[in-house]
Amino acid sequence: MCGIFGVIGSREVSSLIIDGLRKLEYRGYDSAGLATIQNLNKNQFGELLIRKSQGKLINLSNLIKEKPIQGHLGIGHTRWATHGKPNEKNAHPHIDFTGQIAVVQNGIIENHRDLSKRLKLKGIKFNSETDTEIIPHLLGLEIKNLLDKGLLTNGQTLLSAVQNVLSLLEGTYSIGVIWAKAPDALVVARRQAPLVIGCGEGEYFCASDSTALVGFTRTVLPLEDHEVALLTPLGIELYDENGNRQYREPSLLRGTELFADKKNYRHFMLKEIYEQPETAQLWIDRYMPSGVPAENLVALPISKSSIEKIERIQILACGTSRHAAMVGAYLLEQFAGVPTNVFFASEFRYSPPPLSPNTLTIGVSQSGETADTLAALRMEKQRRDAINDPDFSFHQLGITNRLDSSLARELDHVIDIESGIEIGVAATKTFLGQMLSFYGLTILFASHKHKRSTQEILDFSNELRMVPKQLLDIIKKHDALSKEIARLFVETKDVIFLGRGINYPIALEGALKLKEISYIHAQGYPAGELKHGPIALLDKHVPVISIAIPGVVYEKVISNSQEAKARDARLIGVAPHGPESEMFDELFSIPKVSEWISPLLTVIPLQLFSYHIASHKGLDVDQPRNLAKSVTVE
Ligand code: M6R
Repeated sequence: MCGIFGVIGSREVSSLIIDGLRKLEYRGYDSAGLATIQNLNKNQFGELLIRKSQGKLINLSNLIKEKPIQGHLGIGHTRWATHGKPNEKNAHPHIDFTGQIAVVQNGIIENHRDLSKRLKLKGIKFNSETDTEIIPHLLGLEIKNLLDKGLLTNGQTLLSAVQNVLSLLEGTYSIGVIWAKAPDALVVARRQAPLVIGCGEGEYFCASDSTALVGFTRTVLPLEDHEVALLTPLGIELYDENGNRQYREPSLLRGTELFADKKNYRHFMLKEIYEQPETAQLWIDRYMPSGVPAENLVALPISKSSIEKIERIQILACGTSRHAAMVGAYLLEQFAGVPTNVFFASEFRYSPPPLSPNTLTIGVSQSGETADTLAALRMEKQRRDAINDPDFSFHQLGITNRLDSSLARELDHVIDIESGIEIGVAATKTFLGQMLSFYGLTILFASHKHKRSTQEILDFSNELRMVPKQLLDIIKKHDALSKEIARLFVETKDVIFLGRGINYPIALEGALKLKEISYIHAQGYPAGELKHGPIALLDKHVPVISIAIPGVVYEKVISNSQEAKARDARLIGVAPHGPESEMFDELFSIPKVSEWISPLLTVIPLQLFSYHIASHKGLDVDQPRNLAKSVTVE
């Protein structure tokens, strides 16, 4: 989703900003722009310069080569259209009616219609269809007001103007603001949309995501909600929403995991699929070290006493993270015996179920910045805090790949899936990491609640330990096969994915992956539902992908698949080799594992299948149209 990158210091900033924006490209965008304050003119004020372009960042960087733009202070933006088409006019930065203030914004200003009506009544003309443009205009008026009151033309005045204007805005946002008359000031603010300050040597940065700061600095200061900061070449002044000065130590970005390197892979998505054996091994080494006593097999941030107290679990997530949560819910209910519900975070926030006592709320988000998931978690905390009854208190757990995210900062207990940065918009290795976290929780709940014997728990965890090696074999075997099969489906318009029980969420995930990156319509169904409607769609043009793993529902899935084949559908199986697998036109064979463990393996051929179709069609696999890696608006 929209990305902000800003710099203030003593170097020329335009190429630095392009570099920073490039590292935010993976978030998804459709236009880009930047503004700088060029050297002081004879009035001792700077001049605001703007360059914008539609489409990819390369267009902006070519434009800057043709029409260079100077300055030691600047803000840049990659826009993911919400209000108004993705064109140059709507690209950020937006400027005020004086032409001296520029603003970049991530998020949505919900009361922009009212505010723009008021501004239009004052004779202010708008140049874009965006919600953002009201901010520079409001700032223009407020600065005039402050100067009339005798304030000086400097960064402090810009800061005061931003503080005053923010009180008029409703919605969620992060912003960066510069003013030609204060060439030594960059003002930033956040309300429920991420923004991180980076501290360099005599220069300061702001970015939507710490990944953009790698290569510039490792010292970061994430803004908290409702904070405003004034950055100058000399330092940072940080304020809370009441204007009280805040003092906080910056922290250091850890390790090298934030460096995004495609290595020799054609796309990040393929690289990330290939990284899954390692992801799984790292997860197991960290959370299930060998040689520990059976009652202590998993080291996750949830205590035995909390687990004993918890009677019910609710999980809030979106997209692929919700599919991981559904696998988790199956395990927690069927293996560990804990009633568990999964909610679309976007639905939960407006129609939550009645409060239940002793309930653990789990938020799952690879980015840790998904607006709906964060809002649903905040709402749940609020309503539980409000009733002030210990039985209904907010027991919380987050599962994320980003320890520097809002989710990780807002929740008291967090499982870091540590999958390493994921650049492809289509989640693959983080899905695996999220599922593994639920396997770990299942072991803990089953063991501390005495729902399974020690032997059952040991068997379950021993099988889990074999997964990295099995993943390696499956990827090797099925990469070539899926590449070969993918050619047959390039013209396909609809695909049906079938799964049951623990593999139903994998059918949903297979369909989501295919839709996201190949733009082929796909639906996942619990196989038993086929004859209740979707079977009407089947003919030789609609392939069916069936996940059939021996276990509780194996025979049923096989019969449902036969029903599809009888309607001439081309049938692709994700199943172990055996007499039944003869019925499939194509087979992605899976080792004979227990049904419990199978989702960790069955998802792999589906990821590869989608990848190869999209890649064969020549599509932008890593940045599919209209999608964003981090969905920071509602
Ligand atoms: O960052 P999150 O895990 O919260 O993101 C949730 C969804 O937006 C995300 O899973 C989306 O569905 C992906 N593009 C899936 O590949």
